[in-house]
Amino acid sequence: MILALALVLAAPAPPAHPHPHPHPHPAKDLRQLAQQHGIKIGTAVDIAALRDEPDYRQRLNREFTHVTAENAMKWESVEPERGVYTWDDADALVENARRNHQQIRGHTLLWHNQLPAWLTSGVEDGTIDATELREILREHITTQVRRYKGKIRAWDVVNEVVEEDGSLRQSIWLQHLGPGYIADAFRWAHRADPHAKLFINDYNLEWNAPKIETTLSIVKDLKAQGVPIHGIGFQGHLGIQYDYPADWANVMRRFADLGLEVAITELDVRMVLPVTPEKLATQAEYYRRALTDCLSVRACREMTVWGFTDRHSWVPGWFEGEGAATLLDENLAPKPAYKALLAVRGRK
Ligand code: XIL
Repeated sequence: MILALALVLAAPAPPAHPHPHPHPHPAKDLRQLAQQHGIKIGTAVDIAALRDEPDYRQRLNREFTHVTAENAMKWESVEPERGVYTWDDADALVENARRNHQQIRGHTLLWHNQLPAWLTSGVEDGTIDATELREILREHITTQVRRYKGKIRAWDVVNEVVEEDGSLRQSIWLQHLGPGYIADAFRWAHRADPHAKLFINDYNLEWNAPKIETTLSIVKDLKAQGVPIHGIGFQGHLGIQYDYPADWANVMRRFADLGLEVAITELDVRMVLPVTPEKLATQAEYYRRALTDCLSVRACREMTVWGFTDRHSWVPGWFEGEGAATLLDENLAPKPAYKALLAVRGRK
């Protein structure tokens, strides 16, 4: 009897259900905030930091219900030499996620950046022809998706395939395989893991009209052909020196109306340094609005930030003179943006 009672008391609490109404208490951290709103809140993960920095690791696992490998699942990371796969980093992320009840976004199967040199140089010098290139892509997608079958909730199947002017990006994929490579990539990924949600992902899609219209028509075309595409990823790399993309929720809705799940996949809000209290306040407002926009669209199920601490963010390395783009400072202390997110109440 006492044993039975002890067992009952020790049983884990039932999973929280999405809460459609404003919640009475402010959340204490992002994990609780995600539960209150019935969405997933994720972050990109820096594998070296996960391995070497206990405070980073603890914070990551406490706050987040979803993770994306910042670099570890990109082609140059997993197949640096032809036919030689290096899964250690990707596996470490997947294993850490499993232990901490985090779902995973796989990023990314096809991109024009961070390709291994053997591939780009082979295409350039003609030793890899179009037929072989198509086979290499099929093999890559199949191998990677199959390896993590059942473990990755959603894949960014194609990344950044549209240019700013709305034309298809002049990547090696378009140049050598023609526009049909996009449908092929989705079909191959689906065959390798029929349960994974398959996304098309891009930046500036929050506001850039030509990009938005082309991406919508790509999605419509794919759907009309019966190609398995399930989601649209808005990277969401914002900066406070630009206006907040005020129409973002409407854009999300246009994709949702095509039957897609919506995700913010790489949110960060950079600023021109130095940091000032005013800039941090503006940044907080951008983060708050991004979450609010996601919550205002039923189909928006995930908001992922591209790093959660200014200690590890791609911004200073990529945007000269800019930085401080994340929710926590270098010492993992919450910035105004973090507090602003916790204060956001239920779905409208
Ligand atoms: C970035 C990483 O954060 C950097 O560490 C890396 O050097 C370059 O790539 N859009 C994407 C991401 O889809 O994969 C990019 O990540 C940021 C822009």
